[in-house]
Amino acid sequence: MSDIVLQPTTTALIGDCFVPGDKSISHRAVFFGSLAKGKTDITNFLTGDDCLTTIKAFESMGVQITQDGEHVQIESRGYKHLNEPTVPIDLGNSGTTARLLLGVLSGLPFHTTVFGDESLTKRPMDRVAIPLREMGARIDGREEGKYLPLAVRGQTLSAITFKPQVKSAQVKSGVLLAGLLANGTTTVIESIKTRDHTENMLRAFGAKVVVNGLAIEVEGKQTLTGTTIQVPRDISSAAFFIVAALIVKGSKVTLKDVGLNPTRTGILAAIQLMGAHLDIKETTNIGGEIIGDVMVSYQPLKGAIIEGAIIPSMIDEIPILALLATQAEGQTIIKDAEELRFKETDRIDSVVATLRQFGCQIEPTADGMIIEGGQTLNGATADSHGDHRIGMMIAIASLIATGETTLTDKDAINVSYPSFFEHLETLKR
Ligand code: S3P
Repeated sequence: MSDIVLQPTTTALIGDCFVPGDKSISHRAVFFGSLAKGKTDITNFLTGDDCLTTIKAFESMGVQITQDGEHVQIESRGYKHLNEPTVPIDLGNSGTTARLLLGVLSGLPFHTTVFGDESLTKRPMDRVAIPLREMGARIDGREEGKYLPLAVRGQTLSAITFKPQVKSAQVKSGVLLAGLLANGTTTVIESIKTRDHTENMLRAFGAKVVVNGLAIEVEGKQTLTGTTIQVPRDISSAAFFIVAALIVKGSKVTLKDVGLNPTRTGILAAIQLMGAHLDIKETTNIGGEIIGDVMVSYQPLKGAIIEGAIIPSMIDEIPILALLATQAEGQTIIKDAEELRFKETDRIDSVVATLRQFGCQIEPTADGMIIEGGQTLNGATADSHGDHRIGMMIAIASLIATGETTLTDKDAINVSYPSFFEHLETLKR
């Protein structure tokens, strides 16, 4: 396990930051590029471990994929020509690969087994396996197919109308991908809109998808055509530097060319609710994805109640928001975020335990946490617990902690941001 000793910063954070490509969009670009006929050219691809897992999964089904850093080229004959893998597919730590791939494998005419690392093996797969079985899928495994490893025997699928119980873009996307391979028109009706990159990318690959409020319809058996995809920079990664700039005195940082899809920008709304002034400039729209710059400076904030429909659009940013809340004036309450319990770690428990190691006053609740503001952080020895976002939260906390912090298992950060420490250093001036 890799450790790193981190010192409090002696300088402000100043300058432009170009965070890597969006994780959700990078995954989907490989999924759709592999299912489409022809050539797909992806630029600014996230080279984090999770997205490389998706590449390997499709390579094992015979898709030609060339990855040269952030440039990925895919050459596929379409989903009808994918081959049965000869060995089980390793999904590593990647929940997105797992949930989306189950949708695809359910409708392909062969047998596959999939497995993951210790964390992924504890994460629920029935949320996607249950609707897929309703479409005719044969998925089996431990506890009636709730957990990995799973065996999938592809079937001819039939369309369904599905109202997910959980607010999850992974579940929605798994069912829509199965719907693409099924007979008939599949409809997913959400209770709250979750990230809609799958819907945008279906269109970019030439498929017809009808979005009517919270209902998404996709016709089965459509042909996708290879295309070019420029991946926006990841707002979820940018969030760590946005918060860093807000808590390190004198800082002024611009996050360049980040994805500003409204289903992802809850973190910006939450920070504004805490009283922050952010300068947000939308610059372009590529493939249905808004891209722009976010300028942020150090400033005092107030605690707030963060709840309801905003939560799915910032679910991955709650750990770093919790750290921000420790520096605001007054209490912050996060509610309606029970989904945090099903991430790479139980992020209610891991955030609370980690911030307590820094000496913070923070209480877990069933669906969130209550965080006291105005706190002084004391350097600590803290473990990422294999969770990239907990690792980055610890590193940002160390900037303002008194004394030294040791982050253990720092390599977890490679899941979504391999160049994180390098980028952090370039901002210190
Ligand atoms: C993702 C959806 C979210 C998010 C994850 C990526 C996606 O998960 O937490 O990091 O790419 O669809 P859920 O759909 O389980 O909420």
